Amino acid sequence: MCPVPIPQTILTRKTTSALFLVLTIDDGGEDAVREVLGDLPTLTRAVSSRAPEAALAAIASIGSAAWDRLFDGPRPRSLRPFVVYQGEVHTAPATPADLLVHIKADRMDLCFEVGRLVTDALGDAVTVVDEVHGFRYFDLRDIIGFVDGTENPVGQAAIDAITVGDEDPAFAGGSYVAIQRYVTDLEAWNALSVPEQEDAIGRTKFDNVEMDDDVKPTNSHIALNVVTGADGEEIDVVRDNMPYGDASGSGERGTFYIAYSAGPDVTEEMLRKMFVGDPPGNYDRLLDFTTAVTGAQFFTPTIDFLEDLPDPPTAPADEVDGDTATSPDDRVSTSERSEPDPPTDGSLGIGSLH
Ligand code: HEM
Repeated sequence: MCPVPIPQTILTRKTTSALFLVLTIDDGGEDAVREVLGDLPTLTRAVSSRAPEAALAAIASIGSAAWDRLFDGPRPRSLRPFVVYQGEVHTAPATPADLLVHIKADRMDLCFEVGRLVTDALGDAVTVVDEVHGFRYFDLRDIIGFVDGTENPVGQAAIDAITVGDEDPAFAGGSYVAIQRYVTDLEAWNALSVPEQEDAIGRTKFDNVEMDDDVKPTNSHIALNVVTGADGEEIDVVRDNMPYGDASGSGERGTFYIAYSAGPDVTEEMLRKMFVGDPPGNYDRLLDFTTAVTGAQFFTPTIDFLEDLPDPPTAPADEVDGDTATSPDDRVSTSERSEPDPPTDGSLGIGSLH
């Protein structure tokens, strides 16, 4: 009997700290990256065993272009670059990213230690393009003051939402993950009245109760983020967002958005509805106060995969499409994508993702 592949530890209870490392692989750095990927589970266990109560987890994920530089053999079926969505007013940009190391724990010192060990081991094989230290803000609120993560699936529903299954047997047990770093204009947000803020989110601020459908604005964040399959069932992702940034506002502050899913389609559809709008033009009101400055997508392989990596590619990877849009002309908007647009009824029209 084939053993069931063990996923990386994505599903933990919500921790109080997180550290997000977004890296690009420098030319010739592939071997060092392979070595560190293989060592990550052991290295994380070494730090975690010193404070098991802190729920330390470190999850490595690999971008589309990097995959072919690191591994021979098949690729995860749906691994592709982050899609740029360009609405009339707001854009979700794609930015350089080959690797994501998502470290979380109830203690920032443990996150720091894993981040330090990983980046020390990688040395000049990589360039750190973004390092974000996230913190819990009161009762799981984002810095905009609203509770974030309420509608995340739990238990088996969470496992189903993020786990690749029989549709891609070679990568069963893995997940897809999308990230975006948002910079929030807190002065502008806090200039809104509480009812205006609640209209932007679709939930009450203090009590965190969802508005009734007949009063919830169609451009509210949660109205636009409901995505259904062909059977009418909602398709979930597992979000692990964290507030980050400078208290004084002298630097940047905002939300590090991160969502794991069983396929990239569902996050792409959410982003299309948020940025282009549903119908087009009816975009997410939250975006008037918070700006996406990064965007990238990755595949999260299982622990078994990391501990027994496929061989490196025998020949240099062909020139593959980069993971980034390097100029506005390279950007792919929904109207420019070659595959057919999803149905406009908010359904992915693909049935279950499993
Ligand atoms: C600055 C960035 C963001 C902030 C501050 C934010 C905040 C929130 C808040 C406060 C909620 C309501 C409570 C909850 O169910 O979690 C929510 C819900 C949600 N958000 Fe976001 N979010 C952000 C970005 C995104 C992005 C980029 C996506 C998807 C691509 C997304 C997807 C969702 C989904 C799926 C829900 C649950 C909808 C439902 O079923 O009610 N969010 N978000």
